[in-house]
Amino acid sequence: MDAASLKEKVGQAAAAEVETGMRLGIGTGSTAEAFVRALAVRVGEGLRIVGVPTSERTAALCRDLGVPLATLEEVPELDLTVDGADELDSRLRLVKGGGGALLREKIVAAASARMLVIADASKRVESLGAFPLPIEVNGFGIVASLIAIEKAGSLLGLTGCLALRKIGESPFVTDGGHLIVDASFGRIPDPEALSAALHAIPGVVEHGLFLGLASAALLAGPDGIEHVA
Ligand code: 5RP
Repeated sequence: MDAASLKEKVGQAAAAEVETGMRLGIGTGSTAEAFVRALAVRVGEGLRIVGVPTSERTAALCRDLGVPLATLEEVPELDLTVDGADELDSRLRLVKGGGGALLREKIVAAASARMLVIADASKRVESLGAFPLPIEVNGFGIVASLIAIEKAGSLLGLTGCLALRKIGESPFVTDGGHLIVDASFGRIPDPEALSAALHAIPGVVEHGLFLGLASAALLAGPDGIEHVA
């Protein structure tokens, strides 16, 4: 089965878990988009939900497909967030932010009673860190923040290159107006320590380590969908 079919299957499986009346956080990325498409079909069949999108991109797709939306200000407590991931380990710790939406994704996930991760099974790893860690930073003092991130990593034995994410020649700018630094630290033995160290840097707005947020995952592989909790 190709990657697009795996995303479609896992998107449908997640949409099947949604119940009428739910307040939903709706993630960002190609797998989350497969979920939105499957959800829109169920909405067309009469499912009543309200969704809080985690990016302008997801909001636009939901509007196109007729998925009812609200802001997190209007609906500040959610029942379930469904979102993709770049990596997940056996403790459901995640790396997210490959699509640059990690700040809103984390705010929405934290406002949700449950977070369901949807991904193809290749995203499961023994240790986080093969995927470069996205770190959202304020544009002010970016060089000072890069130096601080490098020092924070090296104090934890993590070395590697930091790259400012770009689209063509221009910096990638998030929905919140910030920049993204992709940190290729390699294997991250202690994600909690790295999370705390990054949070201590004033220029770091948020980072893509999602720790203690995911409650379950649906992983699509050639043999079907595996439910991990
Ligand atoms: C966006 C994300 C995405 O969920 C993550 O990058 C996975 O995307 P995809 O489903 O396209 O592989 O964190 O910020």
